[in-house]
Amino acid sequence: MLLLKKSTFAVRINLEYMGRKHLDKVVDLDKKIAQNPWSKSMFIEELELQSFNRVLVNEYGDVCGYGVSRLQVDEWHLLTVGVDSNIRRQGYGKRLVEDVIRKAALNLDKTVLLEVRASNEIAINLYKKIGFEILHIRKNYYKSSTTPENAVVMKRLVKERDCEMFS
Ligand SMILES: CC(C)(COP(=O)(O)OP(=O)(O)OC[C@H]1O[C@@H](n2cnc3c(N)ncnc32)[C@H](O)[C@@H]1OP(=O)(O)O)[C@@H](O)C(=O)NCCC(=O)NCCS
Repeated sequence: MLLLKKSTFAVRINLEYMGRKHLDKVVDLDKKIAQNPWSKSMFIEELELQSFNRVLVNEYGDVCGYGVSRLQVDEWHLLTVGVDSNIRRQGYGKRLVEDVIRKAALNLDKTVLLEVRASNEIAINLYKKIGFEILHIRKNYYKSSTTPENAVVMKRLVKERDCEMFS
């Protein structure tokens, strides 16, 4: 278990592997912050597939962030990531995304891919900051809302030194 930095109110937040015990809290948080929340069964599927599933948990046992990434052949796909609104802009989102890059580097895989809504400038800023580049735009990819929205497909090449990201 890794100890991350303390928040403004000195609450300790740890980065852990997501397990069944976290699921209800992850689903609740996702409902609160995601534009298209996942069902519980979607998270269960990732646990069963043994994807790279991570959670941020504070000292009171509250889940305050999560990241789910799946390995497909030799490419990692960051499927979802979120941080509770009360601890944003403190580096936790960056940490969750860097975590999968490190995992890929340790695995000797070369690429991390993701899709993000074109309107989600905050997330796009985050990904660019970590070295993701825009690969292409998928027109009208998000169809669940009343107005379809484009997806921005982003790619981060994994470097050998990414293994040492948090050491
Ligand atoms: C996107 C999200 C995970 C970022 O989490 P976070 O913990 O606040 O992000 P960080 O503190 O690590 O920020 C890292 C960088 O992202 C960018 N960023 C984060 N918040 C931003 C904001 N409000 N405005 C502009 N850029 C922002 C900045 O480049 C920031 O670096 P800086 O603080 O040094 O300027 C969070 O906003 C979130 O959960 N959003 C809702 C769910 C979501 O959109 N997920 C992505 C789906 S693809």
